Amino acid sequence: MRPRPFLLGNWKLHHRIAQARAWAQAYAEARPRRCERLDVAIAPPATALWALAQEGLGERVTLCAQDAYVEDQGAYTGALGAPMLADAGAKWLLIGHSERRRHFGETNESTERRAQAAVRAGLRPVLCVGETAQQRAAGQSEAVVRAQWQAAWPALRHSACSFALAYEPVWAIGGQSAALADVACMHQSLRADLCEQLGQQAGEQVPIAYGGGVKAEDVAGLLGQPDVDGLLVGGASLSADSFVAILAAMERAIESRLS
Ligand code: PGA
Repeated sequence: MRPRPFLLGNWKLHHRIAQARAWAQAYAEARPRRCERLDVAIAPPATALWALAQEGLGERVTLCAQDAYVEDQGAYTGALGAPMLADAGAKWLLIGHSERRRHFGETNESTERRAQAAVRAGLRPVLCVGETAQQRAAGQSEAVVRAQWQAAWPALRHSACSFALAYEPVWAIGGQSAALADVACMHQSLRADLCEQLGQQAGEQVPIAYGGGVKAEDVAGLLGQPDVDGLLVGGASLSADSFVAILAAMERAIESRLS
């Protein structure tokens, strides 16, 4: 059996509370019930996450926090702890996104500590991995990605199969989705690593999502790859309409995989 697929929308630094509410309303009109065949999640800024949880969006869509500090509480001005985000309604936590690495100095080591924090707070870690264009040109893609997920492994292994990976080549984020052959190759290598660490059966149950430039027209091709179990979508998740178009395309792709 393949892992349960998921669609996760990452709003990044977008949408104040009023816009988030409008998004939730448009989504609820288009999708009045929870999806059966896949998990649908969004990662809004923490302020909107709280507001959306209050309005019950969490009953339709899983709420995911974009980041949590490595400590749960203490004298860390400006930080948000994983237990606070869980309190606000988050169920999942994005970890190691390349924008966190690039703009906020996160490292493989701090990513591992964030994964520990997620596990302590009962949040599902979604670990992002991906190489830069320079690393790809130098033939280092697999080594970089392996080092990224292995660094977080001590924490992830304690959350058993409830964690997920997202392969996001840095050069595709905000641009065009990567070529299917490159996506397939990296996902296959991640799957082999997971099976080696966890054993075949458990390794096959960890969902591996692709992210980077995904639009509705890319969905069938991506989901057609054997080890692509989900999508992480930034820009195209900001409007409920384009997010729902991706969701509908995913449902069609999953249906056709089953038939
Ligand atoms: P994008 O972002 O879909 O806008 O490329 C993906 C991400 O950064 O998670």
